[in-house]
Amino acid sequence: MSRHPNHRRGFIAAALALLMWSVSYAGAIYAQPATPICAGCHEASHTSIAMQPHGAKNDAMGSMCQACHGDASAHLQDPIKNKMVNKFKGAPAEEKSAVCLTCHGGSRHLSFWESGKHAKNDVACSDCHNIHDKTRALHVAPFTTTSRPIEADTCGNCHKQVRNATLKPSHHPILEGKVKCSDCHNPHGALTHAMLKHETVNQQCYSCHADKRGPFVFSHPPVEENCLTCHTPHGSNHGKLLADKAPNLCQDCHVTGRHPTNFYGSGQAWILPNGTQNSSPSTRFIARGCLNCHNAIHGSNAPADRGKAFIR
Ligand code: HEC
Ligand code: HEC
Ligand code: HEC
Ligand code: HEC
Ligand code: HEC
Ligand code: HEC
Ligand code: HEC
Ligand code: HEC
Ligand code: HEC
Ligand code: HEC
Repeated sequence: MSRHPNHRRGFIAAALALLMWSVSYAGAIYAQPATPICAGCHEASHTSIAMQPHGAKNDAMGSMCQACHGDASAHLQDPIKNKMVNKFKGAPAEEKSAVCLTCHGGSRHLSFWESGKHAKNDVACSDCHNIHDKTRALHVAPFTTTSRPIEADTCGNCHKQVRNATLKPSHHPILEGKVKCSDCHNPHGALTHAMLKHETVNQQCYSCHADKRGPFVFSHPPVEENCLTCHTPHGSNHGKLLADKAPNLCQDCHVTGRHPTNFYGSGQAWILPNGTQNSSPSTRFIARGCLNCHNAIHGSNAPADRGKAFIR
């Protein structure tokens, strides 16, 4: 029991007051100053945006509706005779996006829109952003609900190969909702390779896998050069997003060494040079293969030969 029940009651009252205030405050932001005149005939179009940022700025004349759809004064006098042209149906992508850019052009997220692959390939804002249908609208932080599709589904509509890759046994947890396409890419355009958010592939990977950045006393040159020498970014049939499995992966580059790194002429392979089955093939090629021993493959700080050969 609290020794100060009155204090607690006072606290609850204060908390309630704060809650009421914040509810009415939030209401003040999102309440319609007036129902737009368009709503009488286009009710669904109105209700779909009423509780969203665009609707919040609307007024009795439907000025936000008109900001996107164009001057409606003639249409309002006789909607049947003076039909509105819905420019979001059929118009070139550039024209559709220009409407949005009149207000959003100044956003720093859109600085490289024009030079991005999407603008250059006739993808419009409204191909990803669904203005009127909440249930098909993209997740835009911080408004995240379970009834809307995850971002990857929107991207997957067009990028089917990438989507398929994310279904492979080893994949970045994109479909699981832990990593988003837009964690690595800027869908609004970037000057980088593949519109990555960071300058290089490695910088992109380090942004989450900081332990791979080093510097290491003994570094493995391909790791510093490009993670994608060995990994795929979206998904792979080989474990750990690898582009190939060991030993094949390693043998692309390592054909000679102090111990043999390949099958040829070694008498260590599954099949001997004379064509018969080898009863004791080398452990170097079994299971995790080279990684049984070379497990510090991204670089090592262990002293001397152990570190040099990435065996710890
Ligand atoms: C008195 C009723 C009425 C009012 C008020 C009205 N409209 Fe319309 N609107 C119509 C009718 C009818 C159509 C034609 C529908 C059709 O062809 O199926 C139409 C068509 C449209 C279209 C084209 C839709 C399409 O896909 O072809 C747009 C956009 C539109 N109106 C916007 C507005 C806006 C914005 C306002 C408010 C400024 C507004 N309307 C006010 C009745 C109205
Ligand atoms: C931020 C821009 C934007 C605003 C604001 C906006 N619209 Fe739209 N509207 C669109 C786009 C884009 C489409 C094309 C379909 C889509 O993406 O949902 C569309 C489609 C429509 C259609 C055709 C509907 C259909 O089902 O084909 C009508 C009618 C319409 N809007 C009316 C309105 C009215 C009325 C308002 C205001 C209450 C409004 N719009 C506000 C962008 C906007
Ligand atoms: C008349 C100005 C105007 C136009 C035109 C406009 N917007 Fe907006 N939009 C806003 C404002 C204001 C907000 C509220 C957030 C802000 O201040 O950036 C907003 C917010 C958004 C958001 C964030 C929504 C959220 O839930 O946080 C998206 C996405 C968006 N707009 C896309 C579009 C697209 C796509 C178009 C073109 C079809 C468009 N806008 C046209 C003014 C506009
Ligand atoms: C290829 C898909 C795609 C296209 C095309 C696209 N967007 Fe977006 N947009 C997104 C995604 C994904 C997010 C959410 C990003 C996040 O969660 O960090 C977003 C977020 C936004 C936001 C809210 C966050 C912010 O930047 O303030 C606005 C506003 C916006 N987009 C406007 C636009 C406009 C305007 C266009 C066209 C010029 C456009 N978008 C084209 C995918 C797209
Ligand atoms: C962990 C970071 C990361 C995530 C998450 C990610 N990507 Fe990528 N993506 C990359 C990198 C890195 C490349 C560059 C690949 C290359 O150079 O071969 C790339 C390349 C691409 C390409 C161009 C080349 C190709 O493979 O077709 C597309 C398109 C693409 N990604 C779309 C997506 C989509 C859609 C999603 C979400 C389903 C996504 N990416 C999620 C990192 C990522
Ligand atoms: C309406 C179809 C469409 C949608 C939706 C879409 N894209 Fe694209 N995207 C394209 C086209 C077309 C290209 C240019 C051709 C290509 O590289 O495949 C492209 C290019 C890209 C590239 C650059 C590839 C390169 O080689 O440089 C990336 C990255 C990318 N998209 C990511 C995304 C992400 C992330 C999303 C979701 C937020 C998304 N896209 C949604 C159609 C789309
Ligand atoms: C936005 C953060 C983020 C970025 C950027 C990122 N990753 Fe990841 N990565 C993750 C997460 C989260 C996991 C899953 C970790 C887990 O399951 O414990 C993961 C897992 C992995 C795995 C192990 C996969 C498996 O099957 O166990 C590899 C390999 C990997 N990432 C490589 C990369 C490479 C290469 C890049 C750069 C192209 C990269 N990551 C960029 C977040 C990221
Ligand atoms: C020379 C090939 C090679 C390069 C280049 C490479 N990796 Fe790896 N990576 C591997 C191998 C092999 C494994 C599996 C290790 C295992 O199973 O013990 C792995 C595993 C991983 C894992 C999951 C296990 C762990 O250690 O966390 C992550 C994350 C990862 N790599 C990230 C990266 C990043 C980030 C880069 C670029 C800085 C990179 N890798 C470059 C070969 C490589
Ligand atoms: C893209 C080429 C490439 C791939 C793939 C690659 N390596 Fe390397 N590796 C190198 C280079 C280059 C060096 C540095 C050689 C040197 O310093 O003489 C190196 C060095 C090494 C060393 C240390 C050698 C020494 O002399 O100190 C070991 C051990 C090693 N790699 C093992 C592996 C294993 C195991 C794999 C597979 C998981 C692998 N490497 C994949 C290019 C590669
Ligand atoms: C049973 C453990 C073991 C396995 C399995 C193994 N290695 Fe090694 N490897 C070592 C040791 C220990 C060294 C250091 C030898 C030394 O310094 O004399 C080494 C050295 C190396 C070197 C450096 C050689 C040199 O000439 O300096 C390379 C490259 C290498 N291994 C690649 C591989 C590849 C590729 C595989 C898979 C085909 C593999 N190793 C499998 C234990 C192993």
